[in-house]
Amino acid sequence: MATAASAKPAYKIIDHTYDTVVVGAGGSGLRATMGSAEAGLKTACITKVFPTRSHTVAAQGGIAASLQNNSPDHWTWHMFDTVKGSDWLGDQDAIEYMVREAPQAVYELEHAGVPFSRNADGTIYQRPFGGHMQNMGEGPPVQRTCAAADRTGHAMLHALYQQSLKYDADFFIEYFAIDLIMDGGKCVGVIALCMDDGSIHRFRAKAVVLATGGYGRSYFTATSAHTCTGDGGGMVLRAGLPLQDMEFIQFHPTGIYGAGVLITEGARGEGGYLTNSEGERFMERYAPSAKDLASRDVVSRSMALEIREGRGVGPNKDHIYLHLDHIAPEVLAQRLPGITESGKIFAGVDLTRQPLPVCPTVHYNMGGIPTNYHGEVVTIGADGNPETIVPGLFAVGEAACVSVHGANRLGSNSLIDLVVFGRAAGHRLKQLITPGTAHAELPKDSADLALTRLDHFRHAKGGSPTAVVRTEMQQNMQTHCAVFRNDELMAEGKKQLAKTYSRMQDIHVTDRSLIWNSDLIETLELDNLISQATVTIHGAHNRKESRGAHAHEDFPERDDKGWMKHTAAWFDGWGGKGGDVKIDYRPVHEFTLTDDVEYIKPKKRVY
Ligand code: FUM
Repeated sequence: MATAASAKPAYKIIDHTYDTVVVGAGGSGLRATMGSAEAGLKTACITKVFPTRSHTVAAQGGIAASLQNNSPDHWTWHMFDTVKGSDWLGDQDAIEYMVREAPQAVYELEHAGVPFSRNADGTIYQRPFGGHMQNMGEGPPVQRTCAAADRTGHAMLHALYQQSLKYDADFFIEYFAIDLIMDGGKCVGVIALCMDDGSIHRFRAKAVVLATGGYGRSYFTATSAHTCTGDGGGMVLRAGLPLQDMEFIQFHPTGIYGAGVLITEGARGEGGYLTNSEGERFMERYAPSAKDLASRDVVSRSMALEIREGRGVGPNKDHIYLHLDHIAPEVLAQRLPGITESGKIFAGVDLTRQPLPVCPTVHYNMGGIPTNYHGEVVTIGADGNPETIVPGLFAVGEAACVSVHGANRLGSNSLIDLVVFGRAAGHRLKQLITPGTAHAELPKDSADLALTRLDHFRHAKGGSPTAVVRTEMQQNMQTHCAVFRNDELMAEGKKQLAKTYSRMQDIHVTDRSLIWNSDLIETLELDNLISQATVTIHGAHNRKESRGAHAHEDFPERDDKGWMKHTAAWFDGWGGKGGDVKIDYRPVHEFTLTDDVEYIKPKKRVY
């Protein structure tokens, strides 16, 4: 049994005071940091990795905005595609906000220094991406995805970090945020550990912005970096707040078989296609119109079915081929240099001559911390109001659920979500906070939750090493909550995950120091992951329909009457509690933001 410290642990605390503290330095965190600092607010950004190593660096294909540089386009078409892609679970007011703000947000990136690929006339180059079509879904694929070759996220991070420095934001790099400081339902700061020297820091803030990314590493194979442990979601659950729509896990169709490394959808945007063991371009059967450029849930399910029906490739018939060998080598070198290199390194394949082995791989969390379109965290209030704002707390990017992606996100709508809502949070912070005004007093127990947890894991002497518990969780999620799910599988997955969760009481951490203690940090991360894995599988088992990425074999149809609603899930886990999950619901916003566009009514989703 692990030792839990009974008395309050004694740690020396270094105090800081800021208007805004942003946790996370990926695309959304940096955009919020830049916006807050530009607004004249004293702004800190806490990040566990160097900003340009945040997971946005892995975003390849591009960022969606209806610029009309390479084909006709309109924001209403982008809105329609996003609503349809979300399988009508997205909130249409937020979607309208995102697609209308998208062009301006991209031009701001351009002016901030993002080196976009260019057309001959000097405009930003845009490529086709899955599920983005012309003319309210009636036309051919639209070229809407603005690209910096296949290194768009990398380019964005560098520009946004430079801009944040220009506006004098303070960066606390390689600091691990442990827990929020809550006071009577209001967020007033955050406690963090400086991983370099082991010092503990208390950040008092008028607003905390969680930009901590997704929790892809709750699965065994993911395109997500090992740092994608959903630390903000874990903190929110421990603060007694719900997460939303966690059952919707996106599988990207083209992760490199075995390695899980991302091969951008831009590959199919540039003309790549998938084949099965019979050499057939099978997407023509599943999505006669969009084919290989159907939305991700559709393509991933089609690949899984081909494999299940014995038409997979390779000795075990367990993957699919992606062909780019018909594309001119100069085009690959210019438009897709990153994946050409990845194919060589991770699969030993020369893309100019051979097909690449790929399979659907966990890529993105549609669910997350519920917010409104200003980035303010919302919860269901004591009076039942589902839009009750949690004062002082914001969330943006993959950590958040606005919800613009609903049950399935379209490719390249993530990068635009990051910058549009990171920017929106900056605008809201400017409206809400007056620089130089007094801060609220911190509660006396402000550091107790964070330090008790830290101390508990630091001295844990049980029989279950962190890596063993983590692998058990990851394999369980991979097996029981995959592209296709059914009642029996998920019930078994819930049972097994509860058993794995009980091992957190028996965890073993070897290193007791506070300086670069990766064993301890990975344990805190695992604690964040496993609470979110638990609400994910409970939410999935609870939702008796199929919608977007949630393909329930016992309930293969979408059920708008019963299930056009967001799941809100609470986790009662920390401090020896058993890990119970409570589920409630929030209504989907069946309205738009302005009278310029009407609510798009649900219909059958075909590509
Ligand atoms: O395929 C990709 O380049 C990934 C883009 C995204 O997830 O939006």
